[in-house]
Amino acid sequence: MCGIVGYIGFRDAYPIVIKGLHRLEYRGYDSAGVALLDETSNLNIYKKAGKVADLEGFIEGRDHSGTIGMGHTRWATHGAPNDRNSHPHQSGDEKLAIIHNGIIENYGPLKEELISRGHVFKSDTDTEVLIHLIEDIRQEAEIDLQKAVREALKQVIGAYAIVIMSKEDPEMLIAARKGSPMVIGVGKNEYFIASDATPIVEYTKNVIYLDDNEIAYLKADELVIRSIDNEVKTPYVQQLEIKLEMLEKGGYDHFMLKEIYEQPRSIGDCMRGRIYPLEGKVKLGGIKEYTEKFKNAHRIIIVACGTSWHAGLVGEYLIEEYARIPVEVEYASEFRYRNPIITENDIVIAISQSGETADTMAAIEMAKAKGATIFGICNVVGSSIPRLSDAGIYTHAGPEIGVASTKAFTAQVTALTLMAFYMAEKKGTIAQTKLIALLSELERIPSLVERALQSDGLIREISEKFKDSRNALFLGRGSGFPVALEGALKLKEISYIHAEGYPAAEMKHGPIALIDEQMPVIVIATKNSSYEKVISNIQEVKARKGVVIAIVTEGDTEVVRMADYSIEIPSADEAFLPLLATIPLQLLSYHIAVLRGCNVDQPRNLAKSVTVE
Ligand code: F6R
Repeated sequence: MCGIVGYIGFRDAYPIVIKGLHRLEYRGYDSAGVALLDETSNLNIYKKAGKVADLEGFIEGRDHSGTIGMGHTRWATHGAPNDRNSHPHQSGDEKLAIIHNGIIENYGPLKEELISRGHVFKSDTDTEVLIHLIEDIRQEAEIDLQKAVREALKQVIGAYAIVIMSKEDPEMLIAARKGSPMVIGVGKNEYFIASDATPIVEYTKNVIYLDDNEIAYLKADELVIRSIDNEVKTPYVQQLEIKLEMLEKGGYDHFMLKEIYEQPRSIGDCMRGRIYPLEGKVKLGGIKEYTEKFKNAHRIIIVACGTSWHAGLVGEYLIEEYARIPVEVEYASEFRYRNPIITENDIVIAISQSGETADTMAAIEMAKAKGATIFGICNVVGSSIPRLSDAGIYTHAGPEIGVASTKAFTAQVTALTLMAFYMAEKKGTIAQTKLIALLSELERIPSLVERALQSDGLIREISEKFKDSRNALFLGRGSGFPVALEGALKLKEISYIHAEGYPAAEMKHGPIALIDEQMPVIVIATKNSSYEKVISNIQEVKARKGVVIAIVTEGDTEVVRMADYSIEIPSADEAFLPLLATIPLQLLSYHIAVLRGCNVDQPRNLAKSVTVE
């Protein structure tokens, strides 16, 4: 949430900063701003409510020179999204400027204290309090900026990734993090800073992930990292794996559509080098060391949020079915505030695309403190959750820019499928012949997903009929239930149509009252163990004049006869139903949202990477 970018070096900073903001816009898009230090140490600050493009238009024709700059794209927490609350914020004497991602939780008492000391605030943000605090400490103790930043950060409770510029120290940027991500790109006589690597990748592949409680002091030709207690740290320079084309739309109208179409590749990448169908083996380097722990686990607790939580529900189904280990799936945001019973024999699997979700991170910390082993399933390499985890696997879906998660979900499900099979093999809860058959089929899933994508044209036609719906119900049974939940979430978040996902059999315990001729009911009705039961549920809907859109297995005739519209997916073992049935639901929500004129990649009120609780 909120994107920050900074540059110090020999090039013009503005084009790098503004391009970086465009790349980071998926993290927050209600306002944006930049600060630039020109040759004579003038601090030019431009900020605007609205999109980065609005800011760009506003800056056109104004002075944006300078080789030191920083920018921010905001997702409002404290204070409405308006010009005044946009970042950068300044100290009272206007010599310092700050951009910030995160929340300063104790900003209230700090602000009161600062007001009593004569500080005047221009915004409603927590961020402005921090820069005034730094100014106050600096003036009061007559210390240098570096020390003042350290002292101020010691007083702050909450999460932050910040970048600070000073008119009086015009050769330096100061960056710090605690609980919010921050990456430094290392160039030759230049450095880049950003919330994630996307603004950096076109300039350098060498990056340093700043750790919590670290402060970086960046000059064009020098980088020093120190702890908040001023100990010098040795930076670890890593190579970025992402490529520039992964960050472009590549001819698609939207990132979301591109990412939906990437799924044959992303699912394939997730399983590459990990499955050996002929030997009936799954190899997971990340788990290997913990195999005994998994074998002896009394329980697995999956913690996640949103779409990743839906993947966790699929994981529950697969792990219990194949590895016979009891699984509980928890919303991280609820789990962290309960007092759950966790023992050293429990394994907590944290699932997160971004690897930065605040609630998931807090749930991990709590489970860790209670002695559980933490296993992370994440997409963003080098993000915080893999670093907090004892072990884990990356999903390798590649950067997901569309705010609505698509390819990250199917990659998470693929990773969980691999884990379920891995544990089943190690525990001996699956026959070798069955595992060989399943792995052979899993290897073919990317091509089956490719086939599922061929229904795109039909789905677009169906979408025309439902683009004006006000509500929708998604039904599924077994592992089709989390698919229904995910279908409903996709539709509501990008088209703003109210949608509910329900276990099909639960419908008669309440939601059936909603059904009339206006209500589209999307049913996962593929040929699997609950096929007959789902048929009964469809009949219940039809008897009440509901309009049924069924996701069916290729060649089905029975459901096709009953349903108003049918979308086929290839036939596959029930284990792989979620990977295939999700595809038409993603396309359905995409087309409906486009037809309604919605901003598919940046839906209102949302942001990727929810780094605040
Ligand atoms: C929905 C969506 C969100 C995320 C959730 C968790 O399309 O993207 O529900 O799944 O915010 O995010 P991660 O997976 O980054 O922890």
